[in-house]
Amino acid sequence: MENQAGPCLKEHCRIWFCLSLLLIFGNHVVAELRYSVPEETKDGTVVGNVAKDLGMDKSSLKDRRFRVVSESKDRHFDVDSNNGALKVRSKIDREELCEGNGPCLLELQILVENPLEIHHIVVEITDVNDHAPMFIEQEQVFEIGEQSSPGARFQLHAARDPDAGANSIRTYTLTPNEHFDIEISEEENIPFLLLKNSLDREQNNKHILFVTATDGGRPKKSGTLNVTILVLDNNDNRPTFNQEIYQVEIQENASKGTRIARVNATDPDQGSNGEVEYSLSKMLPRKVYDLFDLAISSGEIKLKGDLDFEESETYKLDIQASDKGQPPLIGRCRLIIKIKDVNDNAPEIDVKSLSDSISEDSKLDTVIALISVTDKDSGLNGKILLNINNDVPFSLKPSYKENMYSIVTKEGLDREKEKQYTIKIKATDCGKPPLATLKSLSIQISDVNDNSPQFSENPLYVYLTENNKIGAPVFSVSAEDMDVNENSAILYHIVRENDATSFLSINSENGQLSALKSFDFESVKTFQFHVVA
Ligand SMILES: *[C@@H]1O[C@H](CO)[C@@H](O)[C@H](O)[C@H]1NC(C)=O
Ligand SMILES: *[C@@H]1O[C@H](CO)[C@@H](O)[C@H](O)[C@H]1NC(C)=O
Ligand SMILES: *[C@@H]1O[C@H](CO)[C@@H](O)[C@H](O)[C@H]1NC(C)=O
Repeated sequence: MENQAGPCLKEHCRIWFCLSLLLIFGNHVVAELRYSVPEETKDGTVVGNVAKDLGMDKSSLKDRRFRVVSESKDRHFDVDSNNGALKVRSKIDREELCEGNGPCLLELQILVENPLEIHHIVVEITDVNDHAPMFIEQEQVFEIGEQSSPGARFQLHAARDPDAGANSIRTYTLTPNEHFDIEISEEENIPFLLLKNSLDREQNNKHILFVTATDGGRPKKSGTLNVTILVLDNNDNRPTFNQEIYQVEIQENASKGTRIARVNATDPDQGSNGEVEYSLSKMLPRKVYDLFDLAISSGEIKLKGDLDFEESETYKLDIQASDKGQPPLIGRCRLIIKIKDVNDNAPEIDVKSLSDSISEDSKLDTVIALISVTDKDSGLNGKILLNINNDVPFSLKPSYKENMYSIVTKEGLDREKEKQYTIKIKATDCGKPPLATLKSLSIQISDVNDNSPQFSENPLYVYLTENNKIGAPVFSVSAEDMDVNENSAILYHIVRENDATSFLSINSENGQLSALKSFDFESVKTFQFHVVA
């Protein structure tokens, strides 16, 4: 300290000394003295010996009232009238006294009396690195759009360091990071952030960096600026569904309002760029819009119509999610709705009967009707079992085609025993529970002349009274025929085989017999003849 505080001996000081002005005060011409002291030096430190340097007699200093005269109230220096030393009186802050980077000079006047002399001395306050670089605002926030391209520059706050020369700011550094470099403008020493790699808000929406300003002192001092970079959103993401294809199943008898599915798309963009709205594609079959309802904001799909498996087993809904960016971006997915069949349709029976009646002499296996059965359901719900009552002389016979049957005779028929049958056809599906349909078919048995007329009594014994009236009816014969209509219409005639037959005539229509002569018991007691019906 003593060394530093000595008189100005260093090269630059000496030049100063040589160039010192000659000052004129009254008759005295005095050369200027120059000293140097670092700022912040402790009180009492000796800067130099003025008396000695001025060549004054130490012993006379007190008598001559050797002193510093200065207008300034806060004097920094004092002289010791005992030995002529210049001492630091109060702590000096170079940056308080002087502005800027140039030399900081303090001018003092030293006065002695008898004779009066006034000496000007100059003390240079040298800089000490007593200030760290400082950012007035310690925080800086940038909002940078993620679409900004590399090369963009953003001006940072500059730091301040009141120290001079080497002790002032030398460098700015930035915490190492992926996106930014620091760049210093040469003229003004202003730092800039330089974008070197594009930002992606969805990856990282905020970067915190520290800019450090460091001075050239020994040791170095530094100050830090907190830099926050908020990455602003660009609508650079389209909504994405968490599944490309959603698949659901629903019972065909589901009631209106049933919730079917919910699709979900997300968009990592911010604000309206990330707000998603759902809609059905405009290109779907009309039926889809009638059956299904998609909630615009929740993506929930509900049933709003009646499903019918038999009409369509699946529906494919193309759904899009759109964000509210300008322009919006769109994501797509497909919802496949499979309809599960419910046994909601009973079989149908279609009978094509060939005629209402069938001849009683029909052969076995004669086809009397064709039946086709159908069921709108599918699978087991649509599989049909067919049968008919077995108390009729008919049976079912499958045909070459599925679900086609014929009804055929399985026994001989006899109209005279049963002239009509009711065939009960029952079709049952294999659903759980099964559904059944009944249909009856009535069939008449038509007559064939398969029965001969029969006399109820044969032979028939008749007693006649003699002396009958010629031509008058004597009795009737009557035969029965089981057949009907013409087949049962009977004509009678007498077989002419002997004389007796000539006594009688028969009404062919009703079998009434008349005598052609009067019988005489005494001549003919009995006779026999044949009537054919
Ligand atoms: C700067 O950042 C550091 C570390 O995050 C924090 O502790 C400090 O408070 C911040 N300073 C200001 C002024 O924000
Ligand atoms: C749909 O059908 C099934 C089977 O027949 C039945 O159990 C269920 O209750 C029905 N649901 C509705 C909503 O009608
Ligand atoms: C949608 O998907 C996202 C991401 O998978 C999830 O965080 C969110 O909870 C889902 N929303 C609904 C309503 O399920």
